[in-house]
Amino acid sequence: MSLVDHLHDFVCAVQLTEAEWRAGIKILTEIGRMSDEHRQEFILLSDTLGASMLVDAIQHRVSDGATESTVLGPFYVPGSPLRRYGESIAVKPAGPAVWVYGTVHSLDGAPLAGAEIDVWQNGDDMLYAVQDQDCPPDHLRGRFVTRRDGSYAFTAVRPTPYPIPDDGPVGRMLRATGRHPWRPAHIHMIARASGHRSLTTHIFDADSDHLDSDTVFGVKPSLSRRVETRVPDDPDRPSEIEVQASLRADLVLEPGSQRPIMDWGRTA
Ligand code: BEZ
Ligand code: FE
Repeated sequence: MSLVDHLHDFVCAVQLTEAEWRAGIKILTEIGRMSDEHRQEFILLSDTLGASMLVDAIQHRVSDGATESTVLGPFYVPGSPLRRYGESIAVKPAGPAVWVYGTVHSLDGAPLAGAEIDVWQNGDDMLYAVQDQDCPPDHLRGRFVTRRDGSYAFTAVRPTPYPIPDDGPVGRMLRATGRHPWRPAHIHMIARASGHRSLTTHIFDADSDHLDSDTVFGVKPSLSRRVETRVPDDPDRPSEIEVQASLRADLVLEPGSQRPIMDWGRTA
């Protein structure tokens, strides 16, 4: 009922014309026609209007000190390969290597051993593996399990900013409203640990473009991390690292029950 009230208020406030009403019906029809099990243009509309992030904010309020969540996005594919501590997620060259490492802790500071970190990212062609039929399906994705002290590490590549799929009606909406389709560079993570709420989040590259204008409103300042260049004699260089850059991302999970990840369909 509230939706109807707000819809009526909107129509009255803007004094909607018949031509505008027809244009609205047309774009919603096109969004419906474009949506199937591979491409969910309605979710992309929700993302680009900021509705997905508002639902996330309402649903995933976290206590002080816990890591914040952000959107899942359409490129998550369950069942990534389990990989060894430090292993590269790049199956083929995809950009400069970055040692991503950190710990997973509970809100009370206890390290969480055996937690799972499910990661996926794009490479320097700006694509996720699932967007490219010719790409090995396990490229730039993997699952890692934390060690006894809650630590994890993997070798990623430096993510690049990329445009969301903008070849459909949502792209037209963005252009018509003078907006760009870009997301700032990030690595996706889902952290799961028994007795804790699962966390769906990103680690944003603090030096990326578009941090202040993410087209899906997904940036939270607490999720930005700097990629540090690590020359061999750098005293702060993490000990096991074999590459020239590192990014530290510690995660703090809230006690609670795991919730299933809502994967509504891909936008590939
Ligand atoms: C992503 O980060 O993968 C994403 C999120 C929302 C819409 C499109 C892409
Ligand atoms: Fe992404």
